[in-house]
Amino acid sequence: DRSIKIAPSILSADFARLGEEVQAIEAQGCDWVHVDVMDGHFVPNITIGPNVVKAIRPHVKTVMDVHLMIAPADPYLEAFAKAGSDIITIHAEAGPHLDRSLDYIRSLGCKAGVSLNPSTPESAIEYVLDRLDLILVMTVNPGFGGQSFLQSQVEKIGRIRKMIGDRPIWLEVDGGVTPDTAPLCAAAGADALVAGSAVFKGGTPEDYGRNIAAIRSA
Ligand code: DX5
Ligand code: ZN
Repeated sequence: DRSIKIAPSILSADFARLGEEVQAIEAQGCDWVHVDVMDGHFVPNITIGPNVVKAIRPHVKTVMDVHLMIAPADPYLEAFAKAGSDIITIHAEAGPHLDRSLDYIRSLGCKAGVSLNPSTPESAIEYVLDRLDLILVMTVNPGFGGQSFLQSQVEKIGRIRKMIGDRPIWLEVDGGVTPDTAPLCAAAGADALVAGSAVFKGGTPEDYGRNIAAIRSA
């Protein structure tokens, strides 16, 4: 179905209790589980690798939405597929052969996504639309949770919505999504919203439920 998906980023979860945290957000009604992979090279932070994706896989009943902020990505795609990713999203800026990399992700049996940094224009993906299952618009510069939403990206979301036309491609937004900014994204045409700090603030499953519901109703 094409209703708006809420994808909490586990970057803001308690890393010592990831399995429980994933179970908690699913019990509280999230649609996808968003996993932020950072390499300290493409972005100035290091998070998790395929072993951690594999470890949380048995706890995820919904969809494992894996966002790779790594360069190069190609040498690691098979490992992330085997670890149980449902969607693998790579960055358009992360390598010279986006068309080939996206084809490779699908050949591994995963849905293929591409993400655009705030400074990257939508024209970067104009010729790979038929290779895509998801487009992820960054509304912060990737690397850290808890940054503020870049209003400049709302126009890009709208333009990409037009580019997608009637293709079956999800349009996901990531970074600074809160009950205040979610309506801007939805109005511009987003149909999946990533939220890290706005979902995990408070720290209890009841808080997660309230936070997810607040974003959804906004
Ligand atoms: C940014 C990551 C995001 C981020 C979202 O580098 O890709 O998924 O963790 O966190 P919030 O919602 O706190 O901006
Ligand atoms: Zn992300």
